[in-house]
Parts: sequence; C-alpha cells; structure tokens
Amino acid sequence: MSNRFTRRRFIATAGAAATTVLGSSIFNLESVWAAPIRRNLGGMAASDPVLVSYRKAIKAMKLLSTSNPLSWDYQAAIHGTTLAGSYPAWNTCEHGTHFFWCWHRMYLYWFERIIRKMSGDPGWALPFWDYHDPSQRTLPPPFRVSGSELFVANPNRPTAWNSGSASFPASHVDPSAGMAALDYFIAQGDIESNPHDNVHVDIGGWMGNISEAAQDPVFFVHHSNIDRYWNLWLAQSGGRHDPLTDAAWKGHTSLFFDENGKEVRMNCCDVLRCAEQLNYTYEGEPPEVKEYCLKFIFPWWIFVIAQVLIPWPGPPVELGEREITVPIDISRVRERIPALLQSRNESLVIELDNVVADRAPGVVWEVYLGAPPNTAMNAESPHFLGTVSLFSRGVRSHAHGEFQPQHFTFNATRAIEAALRTRQEKLPLVFVPTGPLIDGKPSQPKVQSPVRIGAINVSIGHNEERKSDAPIVPERQQEPKRPK
Ligand code: C2O
Repeated sequence: MSNRFTRRRFIATAGAAATTVLGSSIFNLESVWAAPIRRNLGGMAASDPVLVSYRKAIKAMKLLSTSNPLSWDYQAAIHGTTLAGSYPAWNTCEHGTHFFWCWHRMYLYWFERIIRKMSGDPGWALPFWDYHDPSQRTLPPPFRVSGSELFVANPNRPTAWNSGSASFPASHVDPSAGMAALDYFIAQGDIESNPHDNVHVDIGGWMGNISEAAQDPVFFVHHSNIDRYWNLWLAQSGGRHDPLTDAAWKGHTSLFFDENGKEVRMNCCDVLRCAEQLNYTYEGEPPEVKEYCLKFIFPWWIFVIAQVLIPWPGPPVELGEREITVPIDISRVRERIPALLQSRNESLVIELDNVVADRAPGVVWEVYLGAPPNTAMNAESPHFLGTVSLFSRGVRSHAHGEFQPQHFTFNATRAIEAALRTRQEKLPLVFVPTGPLIDGKPSQPKVQSPVRIGAINVSIGHNEERKSDAPIVPERQQEPKRPK
C-alpha cells in the first residue's frame, strides 16, 4: 500500500463512503472504501509523492518498445499518433462526437492503472490542473523543471509556457457555458470547446496537435480536469442528466489495455459513476456528486433549435490575422426580441455553421456581439459570447475517418439584451484573434491556417423536457479489479 494510505486516511475515507452507502444499498461498500483521490495540482510541489510516482512511471514506460501497450509511445498513440504502423486501439480518441467525455474517462482510467503498476504505487491517482483558478493559469511549476520526465522542451512545448511567462486569458478557460447547459450533449460540446480545445490550442506544440498531444504528460492532468467537470456539471442537478435513453451512447464500446497489457473493452455505461464504478473521487467535489444517483428526478432536458430567426445571407466569413466584424441586421425581428428575452425557456442563440480550417489554426478567437464602439472587450463584458478554436473537428488534416465541419452555438440573450439598450440596428459580431497572455499581456499568435465560417444564423433555442423510463442507476458491470 502506498504510504499516503495512513490509518487516519483510511478511517476518514471509509467513514465518508459509509455515509454514502447508508442511503443506498445498491453500492458495494468494498468498492468505495478507499477510493484514491485525484488531487488538485494547485500548490503541489515537484517532490510531492504523486508527481514523483508519475515521473517514475513515465521513465519506465519510455524504456518499453513502441509495440508494448504499456509503453509511453503506445499509450499516447491510443489517443493519436503520427508514427507509422498500426496497432490495436491506435488513433481512437473521440472528439466532436457524442463520446468525448466517456472515451477520455476510460482512457484516463486505464492510463492511471498503468501508472500505478509502472510506478509501483498502487494508491496513485492522477492529479488535475484547475486552470479556471486564477492562481493556476500558468503551466504547473513541476512540469517546467528541465530534466524532469514531466518536462517537454521547445518546440514540442513552447518556451513561454516552460518559463512560466505564458498564461491563459480568463475567457479561454471559462467552463460557464457548458456548466449552465442542461442538455448533456450541449454541455459536453461546450466544455470540449471551452476550456478543453482552448487549452490545447493556447499551449501549442504537441498539445496543439491532436496526433501528438498525449505525448506531453500535462495532457493527462488537463484531461483529469475536463473529466472532473463532468461530475461537477451533473452535481448541479436541475434536470441535468447523462443520456441514459440513448442506446447508441450507452452501448458505445472502446478498446484499451489494462496494466498487464491485456485488451479490455468498456462502454459509456461502465464509466458513469467514478467512485462506484471506477473507484476514484476528485479532491474538493461537492457532496452532490455522490448524491446524484439517489436524487434522480424528472424532468431532464434536451436542447433544440426551434427556429432560425435570421438566416445567414452572405458568403462565408474568413477569420485570419485581423479582427473581423460582421454586422448582424436585427431590424426585421426587433419587435419579437423583448418577448424572447422574457421567456424562461427560450433563448436567442448565434450559430456558426460549417466552420472549417485546412490545418490547426493555433489561435483562439474571442467572440463579442453588440458591443458599442470603444468598450472594453473581455470575458466580463455582457457582450462576450464565447470562443472559437479548432483542435479536432473542423480541421481537415486531423480527420481520422470522415471529415466533419465544426459547429458553434452561443447563447446570445444577454448580449442582445445589452445591445438593445444602445439602439443599434446592426449589431457588430466581432471576432478577435487571441493567444495566451505573455507576462500578463495579450499576445497575438500567428494564424497557421485561416478559419472559414459557412453561415452565421440567429436562432431560437429551447430546452425540451424529455420523459423517459431510463433506469435510475446504470447497470453495474463487474467491479474493476485493483492492480496487483
Ligand atoms: Cu482527446 Cu484533449 O484531447
């Protein structure tokens, strides 16, 4: 047992688990009693046992040959690779699909078990990088120590990140749109875009390329945080729910390898409850994360675009090096807007359709609607809609399999409400190319490839109640075995 599992810790964890279990006889006490905790990286020293074990495992994995499923190369290649040859499960990451959250959860789960084995630390759990916390916007310091297995040199990880001068602007690591959404797939898509894609694009180097990203050890602490958001999203309740009536989603099976290098298959239903099915929890999670199963209440919601109010009239819009302004003429629908703003259930949305680039653009565009001239444009502005960045979907050169353009939906209710007060007929929709902050100041990154937006529509969306007979608790699979 790891030295972190002191007796005190055991009692505390067992106590917490017992409380959860008392409310429900459906959970297996044994499976929760000492769930390893995925800890917050904030303030964690390079000498912390978690990071020491992580380094030890990476070192051992790098000594194995590429064809060994436990090797660092092979594990990274499961996500994506530019290596020649093809082995089972290579290049299978799910992006811009319904399986983004669940595929990456499975991927981290088996990766974590392999790290336990390769480090000889059976209680090891992947830490998470909470970049939403303003004190964690730079690359975590232990990952910047050259010579460490957690370090990746320029250009595979740009110097500005390794030196600590680069940081994320608040608008690029803003999960609020995703957290507010009630529909699972909308929330997942929004979180995949902001902060997930933005973090990849801002860091650049390996992280900026879907076929190389998982070679950087920071990839996994980034994804640990993205995985944590799934729990936090659900814990807000209010009808938020995993898509348990979606048979295709539930049954989707992916291939991985366990810590003995044996093939294992898992589906989305196997990974819905971290503590109960996968035996881990996140540091600082609210108790609702665990209550979720017990508080299953109808209704739950799906988001539908009910009507395109103002269809796009023009040619495609190209985003490049410069800030771009597209006027949105709202004169024809002006009278309808006040009623829509009053509606509890309906919202005005701006849809960007058919968004494509030939290669990864390497830039995050911030999007603002209806801001009067000379107002400050930042994430706090009521005119801030969100961000556009392409990491996977929409990038032609990254398509494994069939190419899919990207699509963005921004809730524009607040921005339009603010704009109406300024009596403009045409609302400026502004796209500002942005990069990471360098020494706290905005930077303008190079656009590697322009982005084309096929259509920009103003639409009405609403949340629709979905009634169903979905099981209250997902079918349990065999309890995952602990690594030996
Ligand atoms: Cu599958 Cu963050 O990438």
